[in-house]
Amino acid sequence: MGLAIIGTGRFLPPDRATNQDLTRVMDTTAEWIEQRTGIQARHFASDGVGASDLGAEAAKEALRKARIAPEQVDYLLVATMTPDHHFPGPAAMVGAKVGMPGVPSLDVRQQCAAWIYQLQLAHALVHTGQASTLLLVGCEAHAGFMPWQDWDYLYGRGGSAPSPEAWERASRHRGLAILFGDGAGAVVVKRTDDDRGLLAVDLHSDGRHVDLLFVPGGFTHRPYWTKEMLDEEKHIPRMMGKELFRHAVAKLPESVRTVCAKAGVSIDQVDLFVAHQANDRINGAVRTALRVPAEKVPSNIAQIGNTSAGTIPILLDELTESGRLKPGMLVCFLALGAGLHWGSALFRT
Ligand code: UT7
Repeated sequence: MGLAIIGTGRFLPPDRATNQDLTRVMDTTAEWIEQRTGIQARHFASDGVGASDLGAEAAKEALRKARIAPEQVDYLLVATMTPDHHFPGPAAMVGAKVGMPGVPSLDVRQQCAAWIYQLQLAHALVHTGQASTLLLVGCEAHAGFMPWQDWDYLYGRGGSAPSPEAWERASRHRGLAILFGDGAGAVVVKRTDDDRGLLAVDLHSDGRHVDLLFVPGGFTHRPYWTKEMLDEEKHIPRMMGKELFRHAVAKLPESVRTVCAKAGVSIDQVDLFVAHQANDRINGAVRTALRVPAEKVPSNIAQIGNTSAGTIPILLDELTESGRLKPGMLVCFLALGAGLHWGSALFRT
């Protein structure tokens, strides 16, 4: 029994901010951002649009390409770190928007590493006979935590220049604010009678490092939200970028070596490394550590930034569309994100 990818889709909200646009609202430069991250531009959802809206659009495209009607899906796995509401998570909302009421849906809360967990869950559900056609969605609307206020001014559409206080506030969070962009990807997978699909997984979590990337606000506070908390910027994630960088560069190559050993394949035999796109320099360092040529590690961070749980499904759709992802390939997925959660998976397409 195997698992095949039968359709992929992506959706990026129309509003797009270049690095130069970001220099209108905080102390940064287009060159710094590009040199330190590889990012040139990112998309942002507009006010009133949530991760579930973006996810639903990507899902509809994936279903259309898979030639599958929504009612043929028997399980939905939706990952985000920016849910429309504190609860419930967006999985059921994506299901409703796509037109699959009653289909079981699960929220996956593993941030940038979600795809590896989604794939493992899909494999387990298929191999235990619980499901045969699954829709996997990764969707993010980070715009809500960006540290500036006047979006029109950011896009150069009028508005008013930030006050010195607003400028200072946004600049304090610039390491975070330059990195993330909004978007969604979706993948339809189906049980097959051959041996395609997941070959091995190496997964880890370590909550001792939760403080490296987290939103300070939450249900430990009574009430869980106050005006003071907003003043203290507890809605904006705190990120220790350098530390996260170090963890990613140390842990991801180790995980790839482990997953290859588990599957009995050499790193050279892997056709494509489909990696989370947190920062192009992270993937460059991982590539160097594993001695993998650049052409085997596709990148899409330049035009869309770090789309967290959306990243790998979006990249999969791009690779399918361009013909780079072909049947029979050995693909290694790898990702690390807030939690910490990290790991890799080997998949035969
Ligand atoms: O998606 C998964 C989770 N996230 C990650 O994996 C993020 C991983 N980390 C990173 O991508 C990088 O650490 C960042 C892009 C966030 C930051 O890059 P860095 O090379 O680690 O910079 P840094 O924070 O060490 O800062 C270096 C310098 C500092 O100036 P001084 O103290 O050397 O004078 C910063 O103040 O760069 C300054 N800086 C900036 N300058 C202009 C930091 N952010 C900016 C900015 N524009 N946006």
